[in-house]
Amino acid sequence: MNKSEIRRLMRQRRRSLSAVQRRDASQRLLRSLRRSQHFQFTRRVAVYLTNDAEIDTSVFIRDLQQRGKQLFLPVLHPLRKGHLSFVPYHRKTVMRRNRFGIPEPDFRRHRSVPARFIGLVCMPLVAFDDAGNRLGMGGGFYDRTLAFMHQPGNRPALIGCAYECQHTGQLPAEPWDIPLTAIATEQRLHRFR
Ligand SMILES: Nc1ncnc2c1ncn2[C@@H]1O[C@H](COP(=O)(O)OP(=O)(O)O)[C@@H](O)[C@H]1O
Ligand SMILES: [Mg+2]
Repeated sequence: MNKSEIRRLMRQRRRSLSAVQRRDASQRLLRSLRRSQHFQFTRRVAVYLTNDAEIDTSVFIRDLQQRGKQLFLPVLHPLRKGHLSFVPYHRKTVMRRNRFGIPEPDFRRHRSVPARFIGLVCMPLVAFDDAGNRLGMGGGFYDRTLAFMHQPGNRPALIGCAYECQHTGQLPAEPWDIPLTAIATEQRLHRFR
C-alpha cells in the first residue's frame, strides 16, 4: 500500500469505532500516557484538540491541567507556510477556526513559543509502525516544525496518540520524517529508541 492508501484505511478504521469504544479508549489513553516519564514530569507540554475521529484527548488534557502543567496548542504559522507554532492554552485563550475549520488559539491575541522551548509534544497521527515512524494527514506540518531535531541541541520528547488499530508493521520513512519517542494508545505505551 502507498501512503495515501494507508491513510484512507486507517482513517476509516478509527471512524468505525462506536461511541462507547471512544469513551473507554480516552480513559485508557490517559493510563498509557502516565507510564511515560515525560508525561509525568515535563512542565511545558504541547497538546492538540481532537479532530477527524482521532482518539479523544480531552481526558488527558484535563489531567495535565489539574496537575498545573503549562499547556500549548499548535496554530498554523501565520508567516511560515506549512509550519506550526505553539500558543499557551488556558481558560482565557481566545480560539478561532483556521482555514481547515479546526479550532486553534487566535495568533493575533497570543504570543507563540518555538517548539524547542517545549519539553513534550503530544501529536496526532493517522498510522504508526514498530519503529516509531508516524504517518500524518499528509501536510507534513509536524515534520517541518520539528526539522530542527535533525541537528544536535535541545529536543522535545514526542509522543503520538492513537488507537491501537492505527498500528501497522512498517511505514515508508522519508528523510524528512521525525521519528517519535513513544506512542500511547488505549492498550499500551509503545517506546522507541
Ligand atoms: N522539513 C521539511 N521541509 C520541507 N518540506 C517538508 C519537510 N517535511 C515534510 N515536508 C513536505 O511535506 C509533505 C508531506 O509530508 P509527509 O511526511 O508525507 O506528511 P505527514 O507527515 O503529514 O504524513 C511532503 O511532500 C514533504 O516534502
Ligand atoms: Mg511525515
